[in-house]
Amino acid sequence: MMDIGALRSEYKQGRLDRADLNPNPMAQFEQWFQQANTSQVIEVNAMQLATASSAGRPSLRTVLMKAFDQRGFVFYTNYNSQKAQEITANPQVSALFFWKELERQVEITGAVEKVNPSESLDYFLSRPRGSQLGAWVSQQSSTLVSRDVLEQKLAAMQQKFAQGAIPLPDFWGGFRIIPDTIEFWQGRPSRLHDRFEYRLDKHKNWDVARLSP
Ligand SMILES: Cc1cc2nc3c(=O)[nH]c(=O)nc-3n(C[C@H](O)[C@H](O)[C@H](O)COP(=O)(O)O)c2cc1C
Repeated sequence: MMDIGALRSEYKQGRLDRADLNPNPMAQFEQWFQQANTSQVIEVNAMQLATASSAGRPSLRTVLMKAFDQRGFVFYTNYNSQKAQEITANPQVSALFFWKELERQVEITGAVEKVNPSESLDYFLSRPRGSQLGAWVSQQSSTLVSRDVLEQKLAAMQQKFAQGAIPLPDFWGGFRIIPDTIEFWQGRPSRLHDRFEYRLDKHKNWDVARLSP
């Protein structure tokens, strides 16, 4: 068996200084996102999304961020999925981007709101037809007896929506994470990483603190 304990690499690519930080965390995020995108990070908009049931039991999955602006971070999903049910019971979530090629991570916490249906519709209409049908076909997170059942449902939906535009399902759309903390993490040698956390204070201003690695 390989020695997993011996797997380690030094993080030497960059550093993060307070003087480099944009006072606005969304502007800081935009800068890092663009750098990750131009650095050919694979699935640069994939984020790990943690939700928790009202009893405090966590669950985690990957989703694709499809928009961000001063309001927050948007992803799309099935409104009856496990994640959506947990969000309905407890809107507090955490999301994480790990851009390993840049030795960076960004961790977000906040509460989630549904995006308005017209925004979901705009995005839905921009998707390939196959993905639009996929949204109609899948009762996401429910158990399936077999793959065949899914394929039969797809065939039925293909017939039903053979002509014209495919409508937005009422059980599908976006959620926006409204951030209250955003942490930027840059790997450094000897595990002495740079971490800066933006936190909304009670006047809705962003405080920035350096955190211990
Ligand atoms: C790279 C990647 C991107 C994904 N993007 C999404 C997404 O944008 N929306 C979504 O609902 N599921 C997405 N998934 C699937 C989810 O990880 C998950 O399996 C699904 O949403 C059901 O999660 P839940 O049962 O916890 O609700 C993605 C999976 C991967 C690996």
